[in-house]
Amino acid sequence: EKGGYDHFMLKEIFEQAKVVKDTLMPRLPEDQNRIVLDDIKLSKKELENINKIYIVACGTAYYAGIVGKYLLERIARVPVVAEVASEFRYRDPVIDENTLMIVLSQSGETADTLAALRLAKQGGARVIAIVNVVGSSIAREADDILYTWAGPEIAVASTKAYSAQLAAMYLLTCHIALELGRMNEEEFKELRDELYQLPRKVNRVLNKAERIKRLADKYVNSKNVFYVGRGLDYMVSMEGSLKLKEVAYVHSEPYAAGELKHGPIALIEDTTLVVGIVTQAELYDKTVSNLKEVKARNGKVLAIAVKGNTEIEKVVDDVIYIPQTHWMFSSILANIPQQLFAYYVSTALGHDVDKPRNLAKSVTVE
Ligand code: M6R
Repeated sequence: EKGGYDHFMLKEIFEQAKVVKDTLMPRLPEDQNRIVLDDIKLSKKELENINKIYIVACGTAYYAGIVGKYLLERIARVPVVAEVASEFRYRDPVIDENTLMIVLSQSGETADTLAALRLAKQGGARVIAIVNVVGSSIAREADDILYTWAGPEIAVASTKAYSAQLAAMYLLTCHIALELGRMNEEEFKELRDELYQLPRKVNRVLNKAERIKRLADKYVNSKNVFYVGRGLDYMVSMEGSLKLKEVAYVHSEPYAAGELKHGPIALIEDTTLVVGIVTQAELYDKTVSNLKEVKARNGKVLAIAVKGNTEIEKVVDDVIYIPQTHWMFSSILANIPQQLFAYYVSTALGHDVDKPRNLAKSVTVE
C-alpha cells in the first residue's frame, strides 16, 4: 500500500504533482475566464460587503493559511488577520456580519479549528472551509467549502495536504480578486497559464530527491537549524522548520531574515545550519545580505533559490534550485525540498518518520 516507497511520507511527497493538478485543474476550465468553485456560494455582492478576513487553522494548515494572508492582502486588497485557532478562540476577536473567516484543515476534525469556526458563526461571520475530508465536521458546519483533492494522508506529518491547501489559496485569492475587480481578465489568464504549468514543475523539484538526500546526510548533525526568508519565503520557512522538528527531532526555528540580527544571530556557530529561502526577486538582495552575515559567523548556509540564479553560489555552501514561476506560486515549489530534507534527515537518524513520537494525526482534543 506504500506503492513501492519505504514510507507513507515519501509516497505522499511524490504524489504532489497529482494533488496540485487535481486541486487546480477542475476549477480552471480553459473556456471560461473565471474560477469554478462549486461549493462556494458567497456572491459578488456579499464579498463586496466583507471588510476583514480572518484565516484560522492549526499547525501546517495554519502555515498554508499565512501564505494565503500574504496573497489575499497583496492581490485582493482586503485586510487579513491570520491566527492559530487555539489563540483566536480565547481572545474575544471582533467578529460581525462583514467578517469572512477562512479555516483550513486536512482532517476537518481539529478541535480548536472547529471551535473557532463555531465562534465566527455565532458572531455572524461567513465561513469558508478549505478542507480535505469530505463530510468531516468542519466541512459540514462551514457555509462554503473548497475541497483540497489530496486524497487520504496517512503519514502523521502533513505534506501533500499543505501543497493542496496552497493551491486552494491561489484559487481563492484569484477568485476574490476577480470578483472585487482587483484583477482583470488579462492578469488572470496569465496566472492561469502559469498554474497549468505547476504540476510539471512540481515533478521537476521531486526529481532532485537524490541530491537532497545527499545534502541531508551532509547536514544531519547540525545542532540548530534556522529557516529564514522574507515575505512569502518567510511564510514557507515556517513549514520547513515544523517538518524538521516533527519528523527528525532536530531543533529548528523559522525566522524573518531581517530579524536575525535582532537577537538569534548570537546563536550562529559552525554547527548551525541556516536554510535560506530566496525565491522572491524583490527581496532577494536583502535576504542575501543576511545570509552573508551568517557565513561571516561560520554558520552553514543551504539556499533554496530560483533556477538561473548562479550568483547565490558565491555566497552559500549549497543551493537547491526550483523552476521559475510567478512569485505567488513559488511557495509550493520551495517547500518540496524542505519536505524531502526533513524526511531524509529523519530516516538517516533512524526515526519512525511516519509515526513521530508524541504526535497524533488528528488533534481532536484541545
Ligand atoms: O487536520 P488539520 O489540518 O486540521 O491538522 C492541523 C495540524 O494538527 C496538523 O497540520 C499538524 O500540525 C501536523 N502534525 C503537521 O505535520
